[in-house]
Amino acid sequence: MVEYNNIILTKQLDFLPELPQDLFDEAMNIALDESSSVPSTGELYKELSPKIWFREIKDIDGKVVRGRPNIKFPLSDNFNKWVRDNICTTHDGSYVNVAYQNNEGNGTTAPVHTDMSRDWVLIYLLETSNPDQYTKFWKENDKDVERPRSTFLNDWDNCTEIGEVCYEVGNWYLMKTTVLHSIHNIKGDRRGRISIQIKVDGDPLAAGYFVGG
Ligand SMILES: [Fe+2]
Repeated sequence: MVEYNNIILTKQLDFLPELPQDLFDEAMNIALDESSSVPSTGELYKELSPKIWFREIKDIDGKVVRGRPNIKFPLSDNFNKWVRDNICTTHDGSYVNVAYQNNEGNGTTAPVHTDMSRDWVLIYLLETSNPDQYTKFWKENDKDVERPRSTFLNDWDNCTEIGEVCYEVGNWYLMKTTVLHSIHNIKGDRRGRISIQIKVDGDPLAAGYFVGG
């Protein structure tokens, strides 16, 4: 568990079950399907807000690069039923996320941000190209720790690191996405970082929120 000033930033939920093989396969097939790639035009591309995610940033080491976003693809009704039966009885749909390489292929960082559509997320990594990928949490100086959704910064110059975690493949983690965060050292192509992500509504820290928790 990573905390800052009594605010839980992330914690492993080790009582939740491993993803069954057939659902793992479904998610990987979608993630690796080249036809679910990011088109240069069309609805999916618009949805991605590319100007936000592929924008130029000054990376944590000072180099100017383009960001590397997580692109999400929806999963089946069967997948979502398993999540309701085994993870949490209420949820707003499950997605498989691919850490998508930008056009220039040079980004290894998802820039510092809060999430656009959720306050908490459940993450389950299916595959990474390298195990040393870090999620870092930040506080912008003179600002609150918790920030509105869709807060995006172009550099870390005015930020203080308040926590770090290295998520491991095959475990469920709860993460507070209203605290500024970034992901570092995402290498490889679309297999660089593939994860299940589930939007969590309400208070996931309440007793009994999760099945078996
Ligand atoms: Fe995020």
